[in-house]
Amino acid sequence: MRISFLGPPGSGKGTQAERLSKEFGIPHIATGDILRDTIRKDTSLGKKVKAYLGMGRLVPDDIITELILEKIDKAEDFLIDGFPRTLAQAERLEKTAPIGILLFFQVSEATIVSRLAQRRICPSCGRVYNLTSDPPIIAGVCDRCGRSLIVREDDRETTVKRRLEVYRGETLPLIEYYERKGTLRYLDAEGDPDTVYEKIKRIVCGDDNSEV
Ligand code: AP5
Repeated sequence: MRISFLGPPGSGKGTQAERLSKEFGIPHIATGDILRDTIRKDTSLGKKVKAYLGMGRLVPDDIITELILEKIDKAEDFLIDGFPRTLAQAERLEKTAPIGILLFFQVSEATIVSRLAQRRICPSCGRVYNLTSDPPIIAGVCDRCGRSLIVREDDRETTVKRRLEVYRGETLPLIEYYERKGTLRYLDAEGDPDTVYEKIKRIVCGDDNSEV
């Protein structure tokens, strides 16, 4: 089972990937988390990556491809969220480990903006919250490790705007690429997390034909 989640920022890829990975025991490769780990290491690569994320731009293909393919080499099955995001990345992935399902998360821009404005993360364990749909038990504090929650650096309004522009320019063209390959599936990701998850399971288990 090789699955990739594609969609705009805040469409729920990370939230749903974590659930699916847990229930089916598929290794989850979270591209954004890998990059944020790289930043924390504070190497010259980490500094470079930080600059791209801070600007809301994509990390260059050669850097991200190397980081991701290293993980994929070790996994027969995988669930990856956030890769590929450019045609060059897609072509490279197809050569190394062709994916079986590319699930395209569809949400309105209003939903994206609202979800990202409400997102809070734990700087220590990385747990993701939402002030409306998934709040912590104690306001502002991580349920798992007790640390104070923060706003993700790239969730500030101007950076979100830039990330959306980059998504439209560089990532949306992948839809056509995967349509041609016959592996694309559309997902209405507007509902609450449980509803969306049920739809994903139906698609992944082959009980739903939400394809092109
Ligand atoms: P990354 O961390 O992957 O960011 P992203 O793709 O922009 O996606 P997000 O993490 O913002 O959102 P998500 O879709 O995972 O939503 P989530 O589940 O958190 O990448 C960050 C950066 O790294 C990129 O901008 C780029 O610079 C770089 N990068 C990454 N991959 C790269 C690549 N391949 N090539 C080059 N550069 C790359 O949900 C969002 C919020 O909504 C949360 O608060 C959540 O609790 C809530 N929520 C989720 N689902 C629902 C729901 N159904 N209803 C209500 N609330 C919900």
